[in-house]
Amino acid sequence: MGWYSDHVLPKLLDLAMDTQHIRRIRARVTAGLAGEVVEVGFGTGHNLAYLPASVTRLLAVEPSRSSVRLAAARIAASAIPIDVIGPDAQRLQLPDASVDAAPLHVELVHHRGPGRGRP
Ligand SMILES: C[S@@+](CC[C@H](N)C(=O)[O-])C[C@H]1O[C@@H](n2cnc3c(N)ncnc32)[C@H](O)[C@@H]1O
Repeated sequence: MGWYSDHVLPKLLDLAMDTQHIRRIRARVTAGLAGEVVEVGFGTGHNLAYLPASVTRLLAVEPSRSSVRLAAARIAASAIPIDVIGPDAQRLQLPDASVDAAPLHVELVHHRGPGRGRP
């Protein structure tokens, strides 16, 4: 990752992902979640405040360490245990059928490179 991706983009996304419109969508995306949940593209943890108490554990997948750092206060404030389990949704090390839900919110995940497919 470069300087822009490490230092600028996570802060821009943190702001851009917190509009009133997006907050309403978060409430819809997270309603009804229960049990162990893997969140693909955890970002800066904006969904945490919306997780219902029926979620028992959140497994976060996020490639940007800066975003995870920006999520620190939200992680600390969450009553739900959170584990950051890896950086890439395409390489999850989870056994089959080991989680109850996998919400993706505002995800545009694409990769280039040998064997990784094209967007
Ligand atoms: C537009 S942000 C949305 C973040 C969060 N879902 C939200 O609603 O605030 C997209 C996120 O997906 C992450 N991402 C990109 N490629 C990914 C991958 N291969 N696996 C998991 N997350 C990825 C980015 O780092 C970024 O934090």
